[in-house]
Amino acid sequence: MKLDIYINKETNNIMEVIDGNNINCEGYEKLIPNTVDAAKEKHVPYLSLQDDNILFVQVGSVEHPMDENHYINAIYVVSDDMLYKKVLKPGEKPELTIKLNNTSNVEVFAYCNLHGLWKASL
Ligand SMILES: [Fe+2]
Repeated sequence: MKLDIYINKETNNIMEVIDGNNINCEGYEKLIPNTVDAAKEKHVPYLSLQDDNILFVQVGSVEHPMDENHYINAIYVVSDDMLYKKVLKPGEKPELTIKLNNTSNVEVFAYCNLHGLWKASL
């Protein structure tokens, strides 16, 4: 599966597009992961694959803040056969643990309310 995330910069609305091609929705622009100038170690998801295809994700290798004004909104896990979204709130830990059916083409995205979209691949 393929996940693309678009933002409307006037309203800050997010649009998640699954398996879309060349979406042209007025006012929205596609977010390109890992392109905002911010601390990579706090944003690029840290991935650890454990026994039985258990995937642990933390945003990032140094845990991202989860303050009222600056936090990770969501973590997405995308693979050939699955799309999972965990919604986060300030005060929660920016992490998740999930069991994968298979480990090919696994991509993990994190969205920071101030610093945009970040991605890591398994
Ligand atoms: Fe951030």
